[in-house]
Amino acid sequence: MKGTRITDLFGIKYPIVQGGMVWCSGWKLASAVSNCGGLGLIGIGSMHPETFEEHLIKMKESTDKPWGVNLPLFYPELEKIVDLIFKYNVKIVFTSAGSPNILTKRFKEKGIIVVHVVASIYFANKCEKAGVDAIVAEGFEAGGHNSPLETTSLVLLQDLQDKISIPIIAAGGIGSGSAILACRSLGAEGVQIGSLFACSKESSAHINYKNKIIETGEGGTILDIKEISPTRLIPNKFTEEMNSLRTSCASVDEMKNLLGKGRSKKGIFKGNLDEGEIEIGQIASRINSIKSVEYIFKDLINEYNSQLNFIRKEL
Ligand SMILES: Cc1cc2nc3c(=O)[nH]c(=O)nc-3n(C[C@H](O)[C@H](O)[C@H](O)COP(=O)(O)O)c2cc1C
Repeated sequence: MKGTRITDLFGIKYPIVQGGMVWCSGWKLASAVSNCGGLGLIGIGSMHPETFEEHLIKMKESTDKPWGVNLPLFYPELEKIVDLIFKYNVKIVFTSAGSPNILTKRFKEKGIIVVHVVASIYFANKCEKAGVDAIVAEGFEAGGHNSPLETTSLVLLQDLQDKISIPIIAAGGIGSGSAILACRSLGAEGVQIGSLFACSKESSAHINYKNKIIETGEGGTILDIKEISPTRLIPNKFTEEMNSLRTSCASVDEMKNLLGKGRSKKGIFKGNLDEGEIEIGQIASRINSIKSVEYIFKDLINEYNSQLNFIRKEL
């Protein structure tokens, strides 16, 4: 796997980023990814500031390789998190779920590399104007919170190809070395992978959640809760209840009441498969065991190389 502007930007061996994921990507997962030559991200979205600080300390003890954090911009105590990012001299920040104008300038002034997650050309252009260093282009196959536009990764990458000049990291539906190669041929200089790592040994998700992913086959996820915040997940009792409200023409407030707080914690971290949100991407169909991060990396890289050889010989 050759280097790209993404490997140069982060100082990593492989252009593979582990997406920040609530309740999955603490220091254990992120440091394992960085130690394998990718870029591990601590997912701040599910952490109180004190918990985040503990993870920062552990992260620094667990790897001397480059790593970063993922910060969803709707986070309620944003300033406390920004202070910790400065205090611990975090060098790479991926922001998501908000405008790239909110924090990019402040981070850039401190010399921090900033990447923002987008799902459209409109937001990609906005990122470039805001001065981010790279974007993650995330298609509708991806697990977790998603764009209402429902643009697939394949279309999004083609749409973006001649629209922006900063490097693109593809995300959504990537579960193999061949998929990484496909993204590279569509102009992406790196990939961000979530679901594969959510089901890894090092992910802090509950074993019930991981086993549920293993059971999930083709068509086993849906993009739901579109009225509030579109989320890709495995349907269950909770989504059935949401659907009953929908078919009875309930108001968005009634749906918000049912959603309440802590649904993703219940599903992903506590392993409550009936009441929680089981957020995962379409690529769950291809996940059939719980593997270590090291195994996942070897698999991805071997497959990338053999697919590249195949293309050179056959196409
Ligand atoms: C369980 C789960 C939680 C996620 N949480 C976040 C998050 O906190 N912030 C974020 O920017 N993206 C989040 N994502 C999206 C991932 O970072 C990544 O972009 C996405 O999973 C890539 O698509 P894939 O699932 O097909 O690999 C989450 C994804 C999953 C599966």
